[in-house]
Amino acid sequence: MSVNRSWVLAHRPEGAVAATDFGFREEAFTPSDLAQGEILVRSRIFSCAPTIRTWLNPPGRSYRGAIEIGEAIRGMAAVEVIASCHPRFSVGQLVTAVAPWQDYAVLRPDEAAVPVTAIPEGMEAVDAMTLYSPNSLTAYFGLFSVGEPRPGMTVLVSGGAGSVGAMVCQMARIAGCRVVAVAGGQEKCRWLMESCGADAAIDYRSQDLPGQLKAACPKGVDIFFDNVGGDILQAAVDRMVAHGRIVLCGQISAYDSGEPAAGPRDMMKLVYGRVRMEGFVVGDYAEHYPEAMRAIRAWAASGQIRSRVDLREGFDVLPSAFTELFKGQNMGTLLVQIPDP
Ligand SMILES: NC(=O)c1ccc[n+]([C@@H]2O[C@H](COP(=O)([O-])OP(=O)(O)OC[C@H]3O[C@@H](n4cnc5c(N)ncnc54)[C@H](OP(=O)(O)O)[C@@H]3O)[C@@H](O)[C@H]2O)c1
Repeated sequence: MSVNRSWVLAHRPEGAVAATDFGFREEAFTPSDLAQGEILVRSRIFSCAPTIRTWLNPPGRSYRGAIEIGEAIRGMAAVEVIASCHPRFSVGQLVTAVAPWQDYAVLRPDEAAVPVTAIPEGMEAVDAMTLYSPNSLTAYFGLFSVGEPRPGMTVLVSGGAGSVGAMVCQMARIAGCRVVAVAGGQEKCRWLMESCGADAAIDYRSQDLPGQLKAACPKGVDIFFDNVGGDILQAAVDRMVAHGRIVLCGQISAYDSGEPAAGPRDMMKLVYGRVRMEGFVVGDYAEHYPEAMRAIRAWAASGQIRSRVDLREGFDVLPSAFTELFKGQNMGTLLVQIPDP
């Protein structure tokens, strides 16, 4: 008999999320019989993603299903199949899936909203959770399908040093664009210019954002890939060229505030500028994942894209690591590895 630890939602955060909003549970774990179509998995790596924060809000203020009080937190994970009653999955296989923050869980792949996907033979689980993860697909479809870049365009990326943002910067560079990234802190800005192909990087915390944006984008912004919203979105709207595109990927500046994300102040700028502002959800492009993955693998093999991982260790650190996302304390995709007990 083993122990199954879990992190559950103890109470809904009011404003900024704190580690104390999470509750720890420990239960004796005895594997029970699986029903047809179920797999029993053991967690290996969890991804701390900002979107989880929106699921902690009350129903109605949560996009895609609020987590109930007392329910386990869920998020993307790399898990190992330890028992299977599903024809596509076998014992010992590593898969990526949305899974509860627990040591062990029963998953039903055929009912999963996010596909349960086998990690290909020879691929490291960490790579499946970074370079080849849904975040890279998000960057790909947001940039190429919504943003429609052409060589010579200026692409502005907020949350530029994050998991999605750093991929967008590198892909925009591959598309022949001029890349301007926005991130918090000199260290992240330096990394964006040295390693992610950014032509300019703006530290939004320490500088006059509208002034810096004007200096970095003298001809204006053709495509704004927005992970952040708020003041950054406002400043970008003021710099968009005619027929520019604003790709709405996320609004992280609002997730931890308890308030809905506000839009730009002067929508007439978008009217007269004929600017297209479009939200998207990566899952809508699922049928095109294979072609995107082929491109991502080829770019990674030729050294044109790479990912940076901020790897933490231990089931205990999951809540505190998660709260760091909203203070910008992660340096790359924030993963928590769960060692064997
Ligand atoms: N549309 C989709 O299908 C889809 C799919 C996946 C993710 N997303 C969205 O993509 C965005 C990025 O996600 P990610 O996983 O790549 O996260 P991430 O960027 O790796 O991590 C979060 C980063 O956001 C920045 N940040 C946090 N609070 C901020 C604030 N108040 N103002 C400005 N920046 C702030 C911090 O960087 P700094 O140090 O630079 O502040 C932090 O390091 C999120 O909005 C997420 O919801 C959308």
